[in-house]
Amino acid sequence: MIKPHGADALNSLLVTDNAARERLLAEAATLPSLLLSSAAAANAVMLGGGYFTPLSGYMNVADALSVAEKMHTVDGLFWPVPVLNLSNDTSAISNARRIALRDPNVDGEPVIAVMDVDAIETLSDEQKQRITEKVFGTLEAAHPGVAVFQAQGNQCVSGSIQVLNLSYFESDFPGTFQTAVQIREDIATRGWEKVVAFQTRNPMHLAHEELCRMAMDRLDADGIAIHMLLGKLKTGDIPADVRDACIRKMVDVYFPANSVLVSGYGFDMLYAGPREAVLHAVFRQNMGATHLIVGRDHAGVGDYYGPFDAQAIFDEVPDGALEIEIFSADHTAWSKKLNKVVMMREAPDHTPEDYVFLSGTKVREMLGDGIAPPPEFSRPEVAQILMDHYRSEIAGIPA
Ligand code: ADX
Repeated sequence: MIKPHGADALNSLLVTDNAARERLLAEAATLPSLLLSSAAAANAVMLGGGYFTPLSGYMNVADALSVAEKMHTVDGLFWPVPVLNLSNDTSAISNARRIALRDPNVDGEPVIAVMDVDAIETLSDEQKQRITEKVFGTLEAAHPGVAVFQAQGNQCVSGSIQVLNLSYFESDFPGTFQTAVQIREDIATRGWEKVVAFQTRNPMHLAHEELCRMAMDRLDADGIAIHMLLGKLKTGDIPADVRDACIRKMVDVYFPANSVLVSGYGFDMLYAGPREAVLHAVFRQNMGATHLIVGRDHAGVGDYYGPFDAQAIFDEVPDGALEIEIFSADHTAWSKKLNKVVMMREAPDHTPEDYVFLSGTKVREMLGDGIAPPPEFSRPEVAQILMDHYRSEIAGIPA
């Protein structure tokens, strides 16, 4: 199986031995504690699950700047997005060497990890701007990822962690949330060698489904791992449980048995486009995928990134830095001429009128009105789940 990033074995920071966990929980009750931001808690979940191998904790300012500028840590590890624990109030932990980290996303704010503090440094406004600019490609507060990052504090708490639980993901998404360790085991059990990962934060429409099929066929892969984001999203994005239901229905009805592994990961969406695509590649390698699909406007939002910037950034990845390969896809859409979904660059004779295009706004409007998008756009079973969701939302009932 493909090696994890920068290591021979996964570095899963989750403490799985019950006795050790109990000891750490008892110790945590005696330690000064820090309430994490949602982003820092999501980093703990990713570190806990082995997705962020080989990291052992949160980065300091020097590493954060180096990663932002050069996609490498000070020690030369290839890494695309700073993994930070930023806080605006560290008064309760000043001078502490060992602290408990509390989870803002679970009732009662329980301890999620224990940390050995290496340093508490102040990130200057200038450094924070620089990181924002390099990671998100913009400083605009209207960008949802920039807004979340800028709202985090300027105290950078770095050091290694031991993770005690995986936040709300296991209880809220049983059977879907999986760690990189579990996915590697699943891939090994299935006997797959060549595995294509598909990143998504959306319910999958026909263009997504066909994109997966094209990648599978062209790469002659053993299987596809549809790996959905289960953490926080911007307002208006489809909630994870609804998306999960859509994806599972599509896989059940339209894919051969045992050709698809459906799972999810506990991370908040950054909307960082190209840089997030590279992060996606790193953690898909860690979960055992040999390829990652990167299509149009991967991890993008609004008009902040060019449609294929998230593919072009892989030209900046030094040779050998990653083992996972990218399956770069052009815009896919239903061709009325050919009666199937095609990649546009492969249909040079087509004009825009030859495709079925529906904007996100139009689709949401239709679904909200109880009108299923055409089968050239959406599988009817998927459209039904989405219509039920929108109608219950309008009625104020949780889907
Ligand atoms: S993302 O933020 O997780 O990237 P989304 O779930 O919409 O958003 O996309 C998942 C993957 O499918 C990404 O690689 C994206 O580039 C690709 N994709 C989505 N729609 C299309 C499309 N019509 N044509 C080509 N690629 C697409």
